[in-house]
Order: sequence, then structure tokens, then C-alpha cells
Amino acid sequence: MIKAAITAVGGYLPEYVLTNQELSAMVDTNDEWIITRTGIKERRLLKGENKGVSEMCVPAIEQMLKKRGITAKEIDMVIVGTVTGDYVFPSTSNVICDKIGATNAWGFDLSAACSGFIYALSTASQFIETGKYKKIVVVGADKMSSIIDYTDRATCIIFGDGAGCVLLEPTNEDVGIKDFILKADGTGRNHLYMPAGGSVMPSDEKSVKDRLHFVKQDGQTVFKFAVKGMADVTAEIMAKNNLTHSDIAWLVPHQANKRIISATAQRVNLSEEKIMMNIETCGNTTAGTIPLLLWSYENRLKKGDNLILSAFGGGFTWGSVWLKWAYNA
Ligand code: UT7
Repeated sequence: MIKAAITAVGGYLPEYVLTNQELSAMVDTNDEWIITRTGIKERRLLKGENKGVSEMCVPAIEQMLKKRGITAKEIDMVIVGTVTGDYVFPSTSNVICDKIGATNAWGFDLSAACSGFIYALSTASQFIETGKYKKIVVVGADKMSSIIDYTDRATCIIFGDGAGCVLLEPTNEDVGIKDFILKADGTGRNHLYMPAGGSVMPSDEKSVKDRLHFVKQDGQTVFKFAVKGMADVTAEIMAKNNLTHSDIAWLVPHQANKRIISATAQRVNLSEEKIMMNIETCGNTTAGTIPLLLWSYENRLKKGDNLILSAFGGGFTWGSVWLKWAYNA
């Protein structure tokens, strides 16, 4: 039976570092509060005029293709998990394919907020398992700075910009994506969202004046749902597949808050050295967190390692993916 395996990873973090100190001069906050409540010390921002999220995706993908030794023309599909696409339409997938020269590919953007990457990865795996496609680029990327209100201390301290990607290819070996559980609950949609700019409230003078083109988050409510949702689904996928903590090499958790990550790890009895973490230096890059983790930990991963990828985000959307790592770096 054909399985979908990750055969290469790429990532890109913009140069500009926004520190807690700098934020303390912008809003009423401080380094100690941010570190204690979230675990974040700094985050990266994409600066400059007319630069959309694709500006970060392109170098991430190009670096990945180079590592794998293939050309963009060989790519069949590009699926982009993002909530900060270059445009409402066309899709960022279209923009990326043009910029990298993936002239034989098609694709689409997938909107699932912080779960965007695991939704996209699971979706892509099905196109591989059917035998229909051989090379799919799955991207998780967000330019959160384009929708963050830097006068709102409850949100501006959390988010950062970044892009990560993986290449999915078919394999007959006992590696690759083994299972996924994805969930959604639309009753949570107004606890973490951007009120304006969609068809409910198209942009006008009032929506801009009322600052409705920015992320609004009811932090405490999201926190409660996230702790339960991410821990439950992680435990569920492990139980379903008879996996215990000793079978797992790495937990790859969405980086929203260090406390949510710790609660998830504790629930499935995983010790700290098995948890991938970049929240300290990257903050919450929304769909970018998980592929960026894979990118920065790639050299420590061994063929056959069991990884659990888990996320929770706006929508609400959440889920877990179980995969066996397919190569030694
Ligand atoms: O990634 C997608 C999903 N998102 C998440 O998972 C995020 C989930 N939520 C969280 O991570 C946390 O709720 C936050 C980090 C956003 C906030 O932490 P909290 O521990 O839930 O704080 P809180 O909102 O309950 O606020 C506690 C206090 C309040 O003051 P009072 O009312 O107790 O006087 C806030 O006004 O902290 C205040 N506060 C701040 N103080 C300093 C809120 N933001 C800040 C700030 N600096 N940046």
C-alpha cells in the first residue's frame, strides 16, 4: 500500500527580530509577563512594502527543492495552509507556482488557522496514497504582522511571521503518514477571528476606523479549549494506534503558548526532551509553527522515528497526525 512520506523540509524566517523589550515600548506590557504567560522572548517580522506571505514561502520551497535535488517543474501540487494569503484571491498557491516556476503544478490555499499545516498535510497525503500524484509541496505559512493590531497587548505579543514546507512523496516502506485525526467546531469561530475583510463585512472606512481588520482573540476562552482539544486529540491518536510515550520520539506541537504545549505533553506522559519547541524565538507563526519545527529539528530526526504533530487554532480547528520519519538527514 502506498504511503505518503515527507522526503524534505524547508523553512524561512524573516530577518527583523521584534523583542519583548521593543513591545514594552509599544504597549503596556513587560518581558516578565510575556515570558511567564506565553514562553515567548522574540518573534520575527517580515518588513517592507508589498511583501506578502509568498515572499517567505518561495525561499523556503526553493531551498527544499535544492536539498532534494529536484526542479520546480517536477512538482504536481502545492497546498498552502495560511490565513494571510497574498490576496483574498487568487490563491497564494498560484502565486507561489508562478514565482518558483512550478508550471506543471496546480494547488490551492487551505484556511484552518493554526491547524492549517496539519489539515494541508493530511489532505495532501490522500492525493499521494491514491497514486494520483508523486510530488506535493505542503506549505504552512503566515504573515501575522499583516493582521495584528500593534496597539492590542493581548494579541501583539503572541504572533510572528514565518514559513515552513515539506515535500510529500510516495513510499512502499514502513514510513510516512500513518494516521490523522482532524476536528472542527464552528461554535468557536468568534473567539479568535478577524471580523472584517470577508464577505460578511467588506472593508470600508468604518471597518478600518474601528480596527476590525485585525485579529481579535478572547485569550482565556481559546486557552481553555486549546489545552483540552490539543491534549485530547494527541491522547486519542496514540490510543487509537496503541502507541505509548515510549514509542514516541518527538511531539511536534503547535506553538501558541508554552503552557498549552506542556499540558499536552504531560497528558501523554512525554518528557521535555521529546518536545520540539521554537516558541521562544519565533512566537506563534500560526500555520508556520509545525513545518518550521520540522525544519529546525531535521538534523536530529532519524528514519523510523515516530512523530506526533498536534495543533489547535481558530475556527475552532484542531487535530493530530502520526507519522514515521522517512530519512536520516
Ligand atoms: O494559536 C491559536 C490559538 N491561540 C491560543 O492558543 C492562545 C490561547 N490563549 C493564551 O495563550 C493566553 O490566554 C494569553 C497569552 C493570550 C493571555 O494569557 P492569560 O494568562 O490568559 O491572561 P489573561 O487574558 O487572563 O489576562 C490576565 C491579566 C489581565 O489583567 P487583569 O484583568 O487581571 O488586571 C490582562 O489585562 O493580564 C493582563 N494582560 C497583560 N498584561 C501585561 C493581558 N495581556 C497583557 C500583556 N502584558 N501583554
